[in-house]
Amino acid sequence: MCHKASVPGKIILLGEHAVVYGRPALAVPVTQVHADVQVSNSAREGIWFDAPDVDLHAELKTLPSDHPLAAVVHNLFFILRIDPFPSLNIRIDSTIPVASGLGSGAAVSVALIRALSAYTGHSLSDEQVNDLAFEIEKLHHGTPSGIDNTVITYARPIYFVKGQPSESFKVGEPFFIIIGDTGIIAPTKESVGDVRKLWLEDKDKWEKVFGRIGEIVSRARFMIERGKTKELGGLMDQNHALLQEMTVSSPELDKLVEAARKAGALGAKLSGGGRGGNMIALAEPATTEIVAKALTESGAKRAIITKVE
Ligand code: MEV
Repeated sequence: MCHKASVPGKIILLGEHAVVYGRPALAVPVTQVHADVQVSNSAREGIWFDAPDVDLHAELKTLPSDHPLAAVVHNLFFILRIDPFPSLNIRIDSTIPVASGLGSGAAVSVALIRALSAYTGHSLSDEQVNDLAFEIEKLHHGTPSGIDNTVITYARPIYFVKGQPSESFKVGEPFFIIIGDTGIIAPTKESVGDVRKLWLEDKDKWEKVFGRIGEIVSRARFMIERGKTKELGGLMDQNHALLQEMTVSSPELDKLVEAARKAGALGAKLSGGGRGGNMIALAEPATTEIVAKALTESGAKRAIITKVE
């Protein structure tokens, strides 16, 4: 018996970090990258993980209990009342680079929850999958807003406000985003923790900055829904400037953002936790390849063109 699940990666279009403080953010799935999990019977006793991308080959009992993979199995089997645990082989393959802002951790959790629940004959609702994946996100990065697991679970454009039911938004006119990877591993936990320190030192100042980001996000949603996508470029630029103020950009991200704008992008910004990982640029269909080329020539490890629709 073998059960498989495949889920997409994600990008945050606008609103990262401020979303942790209750402001809205927009995120979309990225199907060009994905996490795949395959669960099958094992002849060996125990639950065996095989995740070659991160060089992990281990039995469940040898992993610390707060390891995200172990936590998925324990939490899910507790909820499903599965005891004793069956003997399993769990194979995890992911093309989503780790700690890059594309939601690798959340994607593996969601795919693992889906494959394991299917294996045990349970069909969980998206809401149940999302709730469970959110618990695991807390192990990955302390105080997550929940946006990553939500956009990945529902695999559609999401207007997200922490603690509120997920809401999809309409894309009036499809548009293209180019994703440029700095190749620098940057755990979200660190940038989120540093922003928290800034906020604790001067809440008035940072609440105003988060508020401005919230306004940018609301305006962007309004424009996207009406198909006025070009307006989105300027809003992305403004959001990037505020993220720079928040200290979560980096010379490498700024370099790629500048390169994209020079190559004709309508706007560009970092995406996700920042400090490394990925940036995104908005471009007209005829300019996407030119922007992608400019990004790789300026040091991006790779550039992905994705259509938002
Ligand atoms: C990470 O993809 C987005 C952040 O806003 C953190 C979060 O929302 O949990 C930086």
